[in-house]
Amino acid sequence: MATLRLDKVLCDLGLGSRREVRDWIRAGRVAVDGAVIRTPEQKLDPAAASVTLDGKPLRYQSYHYFMMDKPEGVITATEDPKQPTVLDLLPPELRRLGLFPVGRLDKDTSGLLLLTDDGDFAHRVTAPKSGVSKRYLAEVEGEPDADDVSAFSEGLVLGDGAQCLPAGLECLGGNRCIVTVQEGKYHQVKRMLASRGKPVLKLRRLSIGALELDDSLGFGGFRELNEQELCTVFLDRKPKT
Ligand code: URA
Repeated sequence: MATLRLDKVLCDLGLGSRREVRDWIRAGRVAVDGAVIRTPEQKLDPAAASVTLDGKPLRYQSYHYFMMDKPEGVITATEDPKQPTVLDLLPPELRRLGLFPVGRLDKDTSGLLLLTDDGDFAHRVTAPKSGVSKRYLAEVEGEPDADDVSAFSEGLVLGDGAQCLPAGLECLGGNRCIVTVQEGKYHQVKRMLASRGKPVLKLRRLSIGALELDDSLGFGGFRELNEQELCTVFLDRKPKT
């Protein structure tokens, strides 16, 4: 891996601002491979070096990946002058990492949202040609039925003439259904269901690929993904038996 400045390495870990970490380094609190380093400009290979702060080992990560249970009422953006964003739900040390949302959920949609600082990863998740499926629980006006299921599977044409890829629709009984799509057109799920005369009342994303929303997070909760979970984003979800 390329060499990076010591102060950048500590900032990338989300430990503190550039100014704070420089103060820690100058105060002799940071060691690299056992030797105290007092110069923030010192270069090191973070993948190979062992860095400690106050004697505690730090694990360097070039990129960060989080899942959030996005609540209704916040927008999927990094900043906005008027409305609360998903980034506002994170503590300052995580906001400093330069995270951004992967794709978008409408303000009134809740559920699984990924946040990362890895642009390539975000692109691979959202690009239609990657074929990563997104699964939504929808409550609608009316009752989705077998005709809707076959219309979804054939590929709907929306009100503005946009052609959708074939999509999954599973009726759960009453006004609830599960929609699975592999693309992310503007208001896609709402427009698909509206085109069948079943406007959406409530929408919640449950999974991306084989990665399921961690229900224990609660609205607005978030946590870091481990490496295994990250890979599941690009796998197909296996139906529960
Ligand atoms: N489709 C929608 O209509 N809204 C969302 O937030 C996500 C998918």
